[in-house]
Amino acid sequence: MLLRAFLLENSQEILNPARMDIDKIRSDYESAGQGQVFRFWDRLDSDQKEQLAAQLAEVDFSEIDRLVATLIKGDGESKTDFDHLQPAPYVPLPQNGGDASRWAEARTVGEEALRAGRVAAFTVAGGQGTRLGYDGPKGTFPVTPIRNATLFQVFAEKILCAGKLYDVAIPWFIMTSRINHEATVSFFEENDFFGLNEDDVIFFSQGMMPAVDFEGKLVLGTPDSLALSPDGHGGSLRALVRSGATAEMKKRGVDIISYFQVDNPLVKVIDPTFVGFHVLEESEMSSKMIPKAYPGEKVGHFTILDEKLTVIEYSDLPSELAEQQDADGRLRFRAGSIAIHMISRDFVERMGGGEGGLPMHRADKKIGVADDEGVSRKPDAPNGVKFEMFVFDALPEAKNPIVIETDRDEDFSPVKNAEGLDSPETCRRDLLRQYARWLKDVGVDVPVDENGVPDRVFEMTPLRGFDRESFAENPENEGLSLPEPDQVL
Ligand code: UD1
Repeated sequence: MLLRAFLLENSQEILNPARMDIDKIRSDYESAGQGQVFRFWDRLDSDQKEQLAAQLAEVDFSEIDRLVATLIKGDGESKTDFDHLQPAPYVPLPQNGGDASRWAEARTVGEEALRAGRVAAFTVAGGQGTRLGYDGPKGTFPVTPIRNATLFQVFAEKILCAGKLYDVAIPWFIMTSRINHEATVSFFEENDFFGLNEDDVIFFSQGMMPAVDFEGKLVLGTPDSLALSPDGHGGSLRALVRSGATAEMKKRGVDIISYFQVDNPLVKVIDPTFVGFHVLEESEMSSKMIPKAYPGEKVGHFTILDEKLTVIEYSDLPSELAEQQDADGRLRFRAGSIAIHMISRDFVERMGGGEGGLPMHRADKKIGVADDEGVSRKPDAPNGVKFEMFVFDALPEAKNPIVIETDRDEDFSPVKNAEGLDSPETCRRDLLRQYARWLKDVGVDVPVDENGVPDRVFEMTPLRGFDRESFAENPENEGLSLPEPDQVL
């Protein structure tokens, strides 16, 4: 399924305005009951008319109608068969009963793939970051305790470190959206790409979808533009293909994509062991899980639905299932998705090419809408619906999808909210705890409290190690001594 509307951000390049038949577009909209988009038409100048007409010509009514019918009016939405839902199997960590030799083998295999230049890093950074209340691309948010290094800098330094160790330039693909593309690219330019080679950082924008009100009517964000929003991280599969990113990967010999979200500075951007499991299992899309901390934790669940690996969002799993326990007293549906995947390039080409696409989900949001004077205003409560695709909806289509366990402390501490859970404060604490653990591995005992939080604030750059193992094995970390408060190692 592909909404032609997906291409909206490119519509002016795609369509030749001279060939657009405005009268026809207008009559099509009026007969579809969507004539309200011409509300300001008589006030627009010719450039504005061209812009709006180009957008309107790209909207596929049949798809919008179908989405409104299924997701808003609810007369055809497929229902999940929760009675037959099973927890998904996963490969446990060695310390939790996994086969240590298989984990070691996976690391070796992954390191070979990295040295051979088969792996690219890929960040989805097209979201709007509204919950954090930060005005700017989320990757430009400062997260580290002393340097205030941004999320993008932390990822860049991990990539630099891994590239140095494996003697390879690891390309980094970053998906933006029309809302933050220019600001993201400028940020990298202003910061000299954090030491990476400019040619190895590749940006592309995801598609946009038109928003509708609760009656299913398209809304204008401004007099000359529909209200558009990024089409979800699931839009990355199509955007990777359409932008030429997968072709670029192929040219570089990359066939494995290390996918992660922009909000998580702990993520192992490059994880040789995860790459190795993906290769050994001949998986098309692999995922990491952490055991959920408590039933209501806001992470997706890995499940088996109709014999296929399927992620059920936290908001969709009935609470009685979320709370169920197995014979050992552990949560039955404990495999939480932290949105980290290894994806084969071939699979992206298959899923993201042609007309194929992922299902759309509904998100009720506050949408900036042009008022009667044509001024865009955002309400205090949700006033409409945005449509988004989720990347994990590709899992049921993947061959041999595998889920491996990861250590939360070493892979997951996202910045999502301004305060409380998953906030800059919890993330900074988790970074400090990680520094103390890694230093202990090389013989430096930083005094810590009962939660492992050091008694001083300091920082270690990811240039010393992109993960715990590489930090411990880096000869430059031999002879480190107890850091002073405020010191950057
Ligand atoms: C997401 C997952 C959840 C997972 C959690 C882990 C969904 C629906 N849920 O929740 O299962 O447990 O992360 O942290 O994804 N993005 C784009 N383009 C878009 C929308 C989002 O690139 O159009 C990117 C964002 O920039 C961000 C990531 O996707 O990097 C996550 O988006 P967000 O909407 O914040 O997901 P969560 O609800 O936090």
